[in-house]
Amino acid sequence: MDAADSYIRFEGVLAGYKDFMVLNELSFSARRGAITLLLGPNGAGKSTVLKTLFGLLKPKAGRILLGGEDITGATQKALLARGVAFVPQGRNLFGQLTVWQNLELGGITLGMKATHERIPQVLSLFPRVKERMHSMASSLSGGEQKQLEVGRALLLAPKVLLIDEPSIGLSPLVVRDVFRLLRRLADEGTTVLMVEQNVKSALKYADEAIALESGRLVLQRKAEDLLADPDIERLFLGGAVAASS
Ligand SMILES: Nc1ncnc2c1ncn2[C@@H]1O[C@H](COP(=O)(O)OP(=O)(O)OP(=O)(O)O)[C@@H](O)[C@H]1O
Ligand SMILES: [Mg+2]
Repeated sequence: MDAADSYIRFEGVLAGYKDFMVLNELSFSARRGAITLLLGPNGAGKSTVLKTLFGLLKPKAGRILLGGEDITGATQKALLARGVAFVPQGRNLFGQLTVWQNLELGGITLGMKATHERIPQVLSLFPRVKERMHSMASSLSGGEQKQLEVGRALLLAPKVLLIDEPSIGLSPLVVRDVFRLLRRLADEGTTVLMVEQNVKSALKYADEAIALESGRLVLQRKAEDLLADPDIERLFLGGAVAASS
C-alpha cells in the first residue's frame, strides 16, 4: 500500500506488558475509509494492537501515525479528540445503569447538549435497543448489549473505529447487521480496524486483511483475494498463518 493512502500506520512498533513484548517491531498500514481486518491466533497480539493505538499501552520503540501525524504515546483523551473510538473485546457497559445513561456517559467528551442530540440518531440504528432505552443495560440480551456498545462509540461520530471481536456471542443475523453497519460507516469515510475470528463472514465486508503471529505481520492481502483463496481454511484453522505469505 502507498504510504500516502494509509490513515493508520504502525512503524516498527515494539509494545508489551512490563518485560514481555507482544508487538515485535510491527509495521502495517490501514487505509482511510476502509475496513481492515486484523486476524491471527489467540495471543498473537491483535487486541494489543488496538490498545496500543488507543493509548492504553505506550510503545517502547517505533511510531504510530494517524493521518500522517505522529500520535505515539498520545493520551486517550487526545485520541478521542482526534476522533478515535474503541470498542474493546468482551462486555464493557455499566450494567446497573440504563441504556440511555450508558449512552450519556459515552458522550461525555461531547457535552450534554450535543450528546442528547446524537443519542436518538444512534438509537435509530438499533431499533430493539431503542425500545429498551430505559431498561438496565444488564437486562439486554448479549447481542443487544454489543449493539449498545457499538452505538456508544458511534455517538462520537468517529473518524477511526477500533473494534475488537464484535461478533462474539451474537447470532448470525445480528453479526450480519453489525458488519453491514460497519461497511456503511466505512463507505461514508470512517476508517475501521476490526479484530475478528469469524473470518469468512468478516472478509465479505472488509477491504483488507492483515494477520499477526507472535506480534509480527505475516500476511497482508485484499479481503476479496483472501476469501477466494482455496487455502483459506488451512490458513485460519488452528491459526497456521505463517506458512502462507
Ligand atoms: N494486561 C496484560 N498483562 C500481561 N500480559 C498480557 C496482558 N494482556 C495481554 N497479555 C498477553 O499478551 C499476549 C497478546 O495478547 P492479546 O490480547 O493482544 O492477544 P489477541 O491476539 O487479542 O488474542 P485473542 O484472540 O485471544 O483475543 C498474550 O500472550 C497475552 O497473554
Ligand atoms: Mg484479543
